[in-house]
Amino acid sequence: MRSPVRVAVTGAAGSIGRALLSRLGSGAMLGPDQPVILQLIELPTAMDQLRGVAMELEDCAFPLVHEITLHSDPATGFQDTDYAILIGARPRTKGMERSDLMRINAEIFSVQGRQINDHANPNVRVLVVGNPCNTNALIASRNAPDLHPTQFTAMSRLDHNRMAGILASRTGTNASDIRKLAVWGNHSATMVPDITHGNIFGQPLTELVDQQWYQNEFVGRIQQRGAEIIQMCGQSSSLSAASAALDHMNSWVNGTHGDDYVSMVVPSDGSYGISKGIMFSFPVRCRFGRYQIVQGLPLKPWLVDMIKRTEEELLTEREMVRDLLPAETEARHEN
Ligand code: NAI
Repeated sequence: MRSPVRVAVTGAAGSIGRALLSRLGSGAMLGPDQPVILQLIELPTAMDQLRGVAMELEDCAFPLVHEITLHSDPATGFQDTDYAILIGARPRTKGMERSDLMRINAEIFSVQGRQINDHANPNVRVLVVGNPCNTNALIASRNAPDLHPTQFTAMSRLDHNRMAGILASRTGTNASDIRKLAVWGNHSATMVPDITHGNIFGQPLTELVDQQWYQNEFVGRIQQRGAEIIQMCGQSSSLSAASAALDHMNSWVNGTHGDDYVSMVVPSDGSYGISKGIMFSFPVRCRFGRYQIVQGLPLKPWLVDMIKRTEEELLTEREMVRDLLPAETEARHEN
């Protein structure tokens, strides 16, 4: 058995946090041989709920869980952590403007970025789930000047998995047989679900599904899936979001399969002409604990137009929080 690694989770008493912790404890993120120390972080007002979650985890008696610590102070919560999963965020409430939501969360994530910078393992890998996750990840990253930007990512894997699930139902196959799907851009209604390079056992998806259905129905369905689930269940997707967060980390740490790829929100390096530095969902392959943006995929003109729109939305979001983004230094990229 390996020595335990530390996993910090914010918003650990929330819906996604609870769903994630039980599967994390049974090895779904890092595999069945990797013990973990769970460092659970919550708002001071939610510490009683967090104690309840910790009691339940204790009652699960997971062999992989070596220790559980509870924190209302992120400085101690992120101490020496190897992985940080940032789920806790302020939800949008009635009457709140999108710009207000953006600013409230910007402040939360700038503080958390600094705390991770000062207290986490210098090789920490960070996943931001809390929305607006692309811009929250940008803020956290820019407030962590001693860490490399590539250590920060955000989650578009839920949208990727939704594509696989719906395509599996449509074609009567298993989701795991569907290869080379991609989500481009923002985790928002402007995201771009791309099946044009996908295949099932080598047969192109564009031959297996009707183009009209893809463009006129499927794209909108993926973009609106979160809203549809809220309408049905009265709360946002938590089981599938937790599962996607575990998949994201698992792919990052343990690698993607063969020449297949997954979608991750990562800092743009200018690939596909996307503005450098913004956090953008790309298709990536992972090997040896690192990810690489898949290069050279030809894109249909209508997809390029959609990708431009989602990029513009991210640039607008960045403008809204510009004063919370410390200047980027060259040295940071050379670490
Ligand atoms: P929830 O409201 O059930 O739980 C959120 C938890 O975070 C609460 O327990 C709250 O006390 C805690 N929290 C809030 N601010 C915090 C802070 N500064 N530090 C530590 N903890 C804090 O919400 P749920 O359903 O778990 O969703 C969490 C976030 O994930 C939301 O922002 C939601 O929009 C986002 N989300 C993202 C998805 C994605 O694909 N990227 C998919 C689904 C949800």
